[in-house]
Amino acid sequence: MELERLLNLADVERAARRRLPAPVFDVIAGGAGDELTISANSLAFDEIKLRPRNLVDIAEVDTSTTVLGQRVSMPVLLGPAGYQRMAHRDAELAVARTAGKAGTAFALSTVSSYKLEDVAAEATGPKWFQLYFPPGGRSPEKVIRRAASAGFDALCVTIDTPTKGLRERDSRSNFSVPLRISPKLLAQTAIRPSWALDFVRGGVGRGTLGFNRKVLSMKEAGNALSSALRPVTEDDIRLVRELWDGPLVIKGVLRGDQAARLVDLGADGIVVSNHGGRQLDTATSTIEALPDVVEAVAGRTEVYLDGGVRRGTDVAKALALGARAVLIGRPYLYGLAVGGEAGVRRVLDIMQDETENALGLLGYTSVAEVERSCVVLPHERW
Ligand code: FNR
Repeated sequence: MELERLLNLADVERAARRRLPAPVFDVIAGGAGDELTISANSLAFDEIKLRPRNLVDIAEVDTSTTVLGQRVSMPVLLGPAGYQRMAHRDAELAVARTAGKAGTAFALSTVSSYKLEDVAAEATGPKWFQLYFPPGGRSPEKVIRRAASAGFDALCVTIDTPTKGLRERDSRSNFSVPLRISPKLLAQTAIRPSWALDFVRGGVGRGTLGFNRKVLSMKEAGNALSSALRPVTEDDIRLVRELWDGPLVIKGVLRGDQAARLVDLGADGIVVSNHGGRQLDTATSTIEALPDVVEAVAGRTEVYLDGGVRRGTDVAKALALGARAVLIGRPYLYGLAVGGEAGVRRVLDIMQDETENALGLLGYTSVAEVERSCVVLPHERW
């Protein structure tokens, strides 16, 4: 695969669809219910129009910024995503390496295919640890201490998974590993041998939440995730705030009133997110939810956004509406599937180039210059 021929993130997604067995592609691409929130996340970006200010010398456009006080090369971070080994055997290790080389931050999911210490050892840039609470009511203290000693810079607690989203693509394909030989999977791996070989040959890694005998199987990952899913309460946030000294980010917020409450509870960052449309279907799109959250937080913490960010112009729109940075999910998993570390790098390079181009064409030479006035929202037209 010549990665340079993939010009944009839609190309990367198409290439991943060709490489991955359909059930695996669906685990990544799919969402809850009728997948209306997935569509809404992208559509809402498309419905915002841009108003360039010209007459500016844009010979030098600097896309760098800071998140939680750390310098990043662009306002595009890699969000947490579980069990990346289904995309590529190097999984989270490759993602950590690439984020560092590209100068941006990544978040490691609790449901990682490799041990958090091993992933941390590959990272050379800012790294966040995303926390799901351990199953069976166990305290998160141990995993939080491990994340701290491994040098994670921020802790990111995800609060939009009080229970499982109804992901019908996954129910239909009933995919599990060790490979259960179903006619569908057999047919799929026969036409996609490179994925099957890569998967079977994969090295031995370690999970995080205690299941560290070996690399997690898909089924174990699924079970671990379901048992880890539980409502996060305000008391949980207070507990985490006591256990973790560094910056605390809360992910999965769509309402200003809740964001304000979380800031009172000690959050240092809020991620406006609907989990990429994988949880509550018909939940509001994230770019629509952003202004309310930004207003409620009123500069007390940084606000980030994820969900449907696929273009540099989407990044510019989120910045204009008050986001400090955006996170991407599926696009880098597709990059990972297509080319491991080089594939993730391709995705980041595309986002870097597109963001630089969008800022320049809007008439800005830095992230800090982006103004609210460069976007027109649907209700503001005509
Ligand atoms: C996710 N996401 C996620 N979030 C989280 O906090 N912990 C996790 O373990 C996971 N796992 C996960 C797996 C897969 C396969 C996907 C696609 C997503 C959600 C993720 O962090 C992010 O919110 C969305 O992916 C953002 O939307 P886009 O960029 O995929 O549209």
